[in-house]
Amino acid sequence: MQQSELDFINTLRQSSRYIEQHRGKTCVIYLPGDFISSKDSISQLSQDIGLLYNLGLKIVLVMGASPQLDLAFTEAGIDWKLHHQFRITPTELIPVFQKTIGLLRSQLEANFSQANCLQPNPPTLVSGNWVIAQPKGVIDGIDFQHTGKLRKIRHQAISDCLDSGQVALLTPIAYSLTGEVFNLNTLEQACEMASAISADKLMVYGSQLQLKELPKQLSVPQLNKIMLKPANDEQSRLLKQVSYSCQNVKRIHLMDQTNPSALLLELFSRDGSGTLIFSDRYHQLRPASIEDVGGILGLIEPLEQEGVLVKRSRERLELEIDNFVVIERDQLIIGCAALYSNDENMAELACLAIHPNYQGQELGSELLKAIEVNAVKMKANRLFLLTTHTHHWFIEHGFNLADISVLPNKKQSLYNYQRQSKVLVKTL
Ligand SMILES: CC(C)(COP(=O)(O)OP(=O)(O)OC[C@H]1O[C@@H](n2cnc3c(N)ncnc32)[C@H](O)[C@@H]1OP(=O)(O)O)[C@@H](O)C(=O)NCCC(=O)NCCS
Repeated sequence: MQQSELDFINTLRQSSRYIEQHRGKTCVIYLPGDFISSKDSISQLSQDIGLLYNLGLKIVLVMGASPQLDLAFTEAGIDWKLHHQFRITPTELIPVFQKTIGLLRSQLEANFSQANCLQPNPPTLVSGNWVIAQPKGVIDGIDFQHTGKLRKIRHQAISDCLDSGQVALLTPIAYSLTGEVFNLNTLEQACEMASAISADKLMVYGSQLQLKELPKQLSVPQLNKIMLKPANDEQSRLLKQVSYSCQNVKRIHLMDQTNPSALLLELFSRDGSGTLIFSDRYHQLRPASIEDVGGILGLIEPLEQEGVLVKRSRERLELEIDNFVVIERDQLIIGCAALYSNDENMAELACLAIHPNYQGQELGSELLKAIEVNAVKMKANRLFLLTTHTHHWFIEHGFNLADISVLPNKKQSLYNYQRQSKVLVKTL
């Protein structure tokens, strides 16, 4: 078999579990105006939405249009203003506003029709008045006029639309109950919509500036930490807005709008392509079982070769598997640690390792905490370990350097003087 065929089969196998996971799930996707201004991005997206639709996902698209509106107003010779980053929309802008959004919507529908013409079951893109607007009002003495804010969402109506097999499209246009036209911020709409319909995922395309230096995954506490010191104002605005929807939406994905494959990579590969903000637990910390031996070996063997960990044979690992706890993510063992009891109320921590791709997310600290809890349950009052490379990390986690003489007698007699490991002890 050729390498390309093998790669294809492996990729298909790897993604099959995600195909099953995502079937029937609801996904709100935010498309900023910059993203839809690229013809290539839109035609790729239209095809990908067709694929997702046929894999059973329910999809709401929320289309922004800031750069297109800026251009349309400038071309019409209309002087438009921003206040606190929000556009003021006077009555005379409304016809140009409606015309620009109508045109964009039509272009998107045309792309959809073309991209999905060969699909046996092509999705239909529909828009409707699911979002009810109200005036943003007068702020700092400035009347925002037809700039609106979201008043309510007809969530049952949009859920019915998705259940009937259609892809829903929201635009910046929304109407008040008095029949007035309003210009609504679309990122806000996407977040509120995802919350209102309890979407499984909110997927947000953003600029490289907005995504600058963001890690691959963020728990909500980590997100809050970054929001205290964002890389720039653009990032701050994006993170603040999406953080509002964290309560009802379990997973928010931030994707690079310049990467046309970002959506599929994010949904169907283990590590995705952007940043995942999760409010549920994305990984599982649990006692190891015999089925985990292969996964643990895969994790620790490279560290054994580097001399960071002491070599353990498969047989020894099988015998000692009950001493281990592991962190599993999407059926991959990404962390492990072992605990050994001792007669002298001193328990030993060993074999702590986190997969290099997942380091720096406090998973090591989480494993250490779990080991400490287990050690206390074993009635140990001190935890010790031997390390050649990592003593600083342990000192930062409450351990102190100690002399070999503090070790339990049996451990002292086995001490390998060639390895010159440092001894660290923590009182529990
Ligand atoms: C040590 C280890 C378990 C930490 O896991 P982790 O999930 O990355 O840990 P955390 O996210 O809680 O901590 C990350 C911090 O530890 C620091 N760190 C990682 N290895 C370190 C080391 N050897 N010495 C000092 N600091 C270290 C990182 O630089 C990072 O610092 P920052 O927060 O200032 O950026 C992981 O780096 C690992 O598996 N290392 C290789 C195996 C190993 O040394 N095991 C211990 C043998 S007993």
